[in-house]
Amino acid sequence: MPANVRFGIIGTGAIAPSLCNAIKNHKQAEVVAAYDVHAGRQTAFCDEFGIAKRPRTLDELLGDPGIDAIYVAVPNKFHVPYTLKALAAGKHVIAEKPFAMDIEEARQVAAAVKKSRKLWMLGMNRRFPSMMQKAHDLVARGVIGEVYHAKARWQRRSGCPKLQTWFGHKKLSGGGCLLDIGVHMLDQTMFISGNFKPLTCSGSVYGKFGHRGQGEGGWGKSDRDPKMTFDVEDFANAHIRLAGGMSIDLDVSWAAHMPKANVMESIIFGTEGTIWVGQDEAVAGGKESAVLCTRKKKEFVLDENPKAKVKYPHCDRFNNFVNAVLGREQPCVTIDQALAVQTVLTGIYRSSAKGAEVDLRKL
Ligand SMILES: NC(=O)c1ccc[n+]([C@@H]2O[C@H](COP(=O)([O-])OP(=O)(O)OC[C@H]3O[C@@H](n4cnc5c(N)ncnc54)[C@H](O)[C@@H]3O)[C@@H](O)[C@H]2O)c1
Repeated sequence: MPANVRFGIIGTGAIAPSLCNAIKNHKQAEVVAAYDVHAGRQTAFCDEFGIAKRPRTLDELLGDPGIDAIYVAVPNKFHVPYTLKALAAGKHVIAEKPFAMDIEEARQVAAAVKKSRKLWMLGMNRRFPSMMQKAHDLVARGVIGEVYHAKARWQRRSGCPKLQTWFGHKKLSGGGCLLDIGVHMLDQTMFISGNFKPLTCSGSVYGKFGHRGQGEGGWGKSDRDPKMTFDVEDFANAHIRLAGGMSIDLDVSWAAHMPKANVMESIIFGTEGTIWVGQDEAVAGGKESAVLCTRKKKEFVLDENPKAKVKYPHCDRFNNFVNAVLGREQPCVTIDQALAVQTVLTGIYRSSAKGAEVDLRKL
């Protein structure tokens, strides 16, 4: 019997296996088709994952009545146009981050989703690890009191995706490290804080390494092409003000001179405690974890394994999406949350270009 949710993939590059690996044990979902402009990568991918349908055009993929849902895993420029096409073809869509090249494009998806009545979800995988959900639950239950500030940081010393590919080429990517990894930290920090109401932001973006052919980490399967000049930022920072008086400081880099190879953390400061979610050799043996820091009488107490609710146990973005299509679960990532994050990202670029703070409510 065919599965209830039959997936077609657009883009068989570095991230696409995550769908096949995630749903292989879901009894009601399967990947039935995959398309890529690069025929060689499409064939190798389909062979590896035993996928029978290998359409050679996007229209052939989207016109197939045997496909219920589309996973959009192509360069950022195509996220929105392909999502709109898939929704118009009557498919559910799970799309890779970032949502869009800018907020205006993202709003087109919001309008199309309303019209289509199909499920759309942004695949924010970092929402699902249990430490992330624990941190979210602790904040929602008021354990750390009033949240007034957060720090969101993902800084790599040498982690630009493969140079001379679409990742560093603005026309295809829309931006550099901010759209690529800043999006994750902003999303997870707003998710843990429970605050998706950004008001203003002041941001700066810098391109200092990739332009000089430095700082490559190597992610990505697309072939190098000298025409793909590096013209995006590899460092970004911002101060964001949110409703209720809360603020977030965001620091992101693909490349920077720094002692650690990789720093990844969200720190949520509250009046009664702080939650740190991150990866540090000194904590939990270097495994990503959540630490609750509170005060008992006069002593500071660190809890490296705080007890809290995990709403989606043993779940990931794809299983959550399938279960949501089947009406069994709420999607973890809502369109309003995705729009809020995209608003901030667009605001940071505009603030940087203007050299001044931007009112996000006017974007
Ligand atoms: N959620 C995450 O943590 C995560 C991690 C990595 C990448 N991503 C996102 O996934 C998307 C793809 O990234 P990747 O690392 O797989 O890139 P990649 O360069 O490895 O693969 C991109 C694939 O898309 C194909 N492609 C390019 N243009 C196309 C088109 N017009 N139509 C069909 N196929 C086309 C390429 O041939 C290539 O196979 C990006 O938007 C990226 O931001 C998300």
